Amino acid sequence: MDSKRSVIIIGCGRVASKHIKAIKKLKDRCYLAALVDNNPDAPARLLASSGLKGDIKIYSDYKLAIEELHPDIVAVTVPSGLHYSIAEYALEHDCHLLLEKPMTMSSSESRKIYELSLAKERKIAMGHIFRYFPLVSLLQQDIASGKFGKVTHGTIFVRWGHKDDYYQTAAWRGTWKTDGGALMNQTIHAIDLLVWLMGSTPIEAEAMLAQRLRSIEAEDLGMAILRMNDGALASIEGTTATSDKEHAAMFTVFCENGVINLGIRKGKPSLNIRNGSGKKLNGKYIRKQLKSYGLSSMLNALNPHTGIYKDFLDALDDGRQPLADAASGYTSVDTLMGIYKSALLKKAVTLPLEDDFSSMDMQGFFENNKKSI
Ligand SMILES: NC(=O)c1ccc[n+]([C@@H]2O[C@H](COP(=O)([O-])OP(=O)(O)OC[C@H]3O[C@@H](n4cnc5c(N)ncnc54)[C@H](O)[C@@H]3O)[C@@H](O)[C@H]2O)c1
Repeated sequence: MDSKRSVIIIGCGRVASKHIKAIKKLKDRCYLAALVDNNPDAPARLLASSGLKGDIKIYSDYKLAIEELHPDIVAVTVPSGLHYSIAEYALEHDCHLLLEKPMTMSSSESRKIYELSLAKERKIAMGHIFRYFPLVSLLQQDIASGKFGKVTHGTIFVRWGHKDDYYQTAAWRGTWKTDGGALMNQTIHAIDLLVWLMGSTPIEAEAMLAQRLRSIEAEDLGMAILRMNDGALASIEGTTATSDKEHAAMFTVFCENGVINLGIRKGKPSLNIRNGSGKKLNGKYIRKQLKSYGLSSMLNALNPHTGIYKDFLDALDDGRQPLADAASGYTSVDTLMGIYKSALLKKAVTLPLEDDFSSMDMQGFFENNKKSI
């Protein structure tokens, strides 16, 4: 048991089941030591549906679980508004963190968590799932090495249809305090991926938000433009105000010598990679993926959290940073807060933000802008 890393999961809701699937898959390298939830029914329900057995302790108080078990890894899968306090407590107690996105709900809190992880020499793997598709890593390496030439611009759209009944499953969803809207919840990991693929850093954001169909406090539609430090531009559309049959998260990176277009449409993978003369490179990249990562990588893509855990365990063994590290958590929250701030001020803002901005600064935004939105 000792050579394996111990994991505790704090928050036994929807996404926790993906963490359990990953831990089961990697049972030779890690084990679940405890489940924590302040709803007494949640851990038992999660265990029953996962089929996981063994000596798994149940706690309602995360502080007690961390103090008693000293786990190697704390997986934080509670509502987003609780990430900061739990992440801080776990780092203070020398645990590594698998932290769901968004890192926290404010730019300064995210910076604090990032800096604390450096000071405590603990690692953070972010739940930025899109980085963990092996094909995406291959493309990122080739864009970064210049194979496609200069990156001119990038676009993403995330149309993650959710009806009001999704928002009604938990009181924290769609609120400024604990969730944010379609950009903060459904789009932040897509923004992270676009920035990573483009290989540059956002220095300016300009954005507009709207409430179209969903009865929530925050936005169900947001659009933004980012200027990057190399002069490239990026456009972002994130919404839950589409049909729930319409799940799509699509990424396009335009380069001097090719176009990379990939993602998910209607729940299915979609790929269109072309070189500068328009020749399709899909087959080449799929063969490259099989050669570099094997067939199992394609199966793991069914649950990207398995990729996160595998990479995190490798990173801890090798003393390197995970693929989606603490810096990516901070940058993506800072960019998102810049997008919100721009919508609030109705003007472009410079990134990284100099002063703190939190999703709570958006409270009253739609009420105050009723006439113009
Ligand atoms: N990376 C991804 O693909 C992905 C997917 C879905 C959700 N998420 C993120 O995961 C987080 C959780 O989302 P979800 O949909 O699983 O939420 P959920 O509401 O289904 O589950 C949250 C759980 O946390 C528990 N909880 C609340 N307060 C607690 C506390 N103080 N201590 C212990 N437990 C507490 C709740 O009882 C609930 O069981 C969010 O931050 C969300 O953005 C990430």
